[in-house]
Amino acid sequence: MSQTNESSQSTNRPSRDSLGLQRRPRRLRTSATMRDFVAETRLDPANLIQVLFVRHGIDQPEEIPSMPGQYQHTVSSLIDAVREARDAGVRCVDLFGIPLEEEKDAQGSEAWNPNGILNRGIAAVRKEFGDSILVMADTCLDEFTDHGHCGVLTEDKHGTVVVNNDKTVPLYVKMAVSQAKAGAHIVSPSGMMDGQVAEIRRGLDDAGYEDVSIMAYSAKYASAFFGPFRDAVGCSLQGDRKAYQQDPANRRESLLEVQLDIDEGADMVMVKPAMAYLDVVREVADFSPVPVAAYQVSGEYSMIEAAAQKGWIDRRRIVLESLTSIRRAGADMIFTYYATEVAHWLKDN
Ligand code: PBG
Repeated sequence: MSQTNESSQSTNRPSRDSLGLQRRPRRLRTSATMRDFVAETRLDPANLIQVLFVRHGIDQPEEIPSMPGQYQHTVSSLIDAVREARDAGVRCVDLFGIPLEEEKDAQGSEAWNPNGILNRGIAAVRKEFGDSILVMADTCLDEFTDHGHCGVLTEDKHGTVVVNNDKTVPLYVKMAVSQAKAGAHIVSPSGMMDGQVAEIRRGLDDAGYEDVSIMAYSAKYASAFFGPFRDAVGCSLQGDRKAYQQDPANRRESLLEVQLDIDEGADMVMVKPAMAYLDVVREVADFSPVPVAAYQVSGEYSMIEAAAQKGWIDRRRIVLESLTSIRRAGADMIFTYYATEVAHWLKDN
């Protein structure tokens, strides 16, 4: 049995090239050393972004039921999580805030309150760690609105309730400026309102935050893979986001969205979710003149965790394979709930 070598069975010999020599791609797979030597894609903690949640009104971190191993943090446990990420070699954390239920309103005004939970989290992390790890903030209202949509609701001319693009964008600007003030190095508008990047850039510049950069959620799909995240942040959404996030059926639309965001001043662009959209990641990576990120979202995480808990997959290999594939598709950076853990694995290698 140990002699079995499929490619050299006499009935199925490797093809010969024009000189009559055998092409044997397996030569480059013969040992771990050789495989490592020829690997085209490598994971590096430096371009993994650890996503973290900070919640108002709890005195202990709370595990998120649909995302085992991920927590809603207190400000103090957030600091510990950021320290662990940084010490493992991660260079950026992306923070989401969870306010009290009674702090939510129709506009999401807690989002730009300097004492709101997200801004307090940003400020605490920046104060503790300075420039030794980058603080990115989610710039979107859905965690803060009582209806759970990413913007302001109005009725259109026919009486249909819609998320009003142009009434929402100025609120994103206020939120982004408050995040910059709190100490965010990067703001990340994730609401998919048209024109949001340009207005946020203008607002940051006018407030003197020319050095704060924008990671634009450029190609963000109306995806069922966000399901567990809505648990994670206690989002109040009824219905869906199909009138502002993209239709999974479309590819070209992503190229337009990315182009517009770059024209509007995005410093980095993102495709989200990652694994079901690797074709989009590849196409964006092929033309983008700015760094491209992909977001391995909550549903991707939870599916791996659930299958691993059942013993149906090899958790560590699946995590590394999925992240490697996202990099191979062309992502420069990856948002992932696994960043710190993977950084530890890579260091131990
Ligand atoms: C919206 C936002 C969402 C996610 C990140 N930002 C949810 C949504 O658009 O419904 C999803 C992240 C994840 O699923 O991991 N602010």
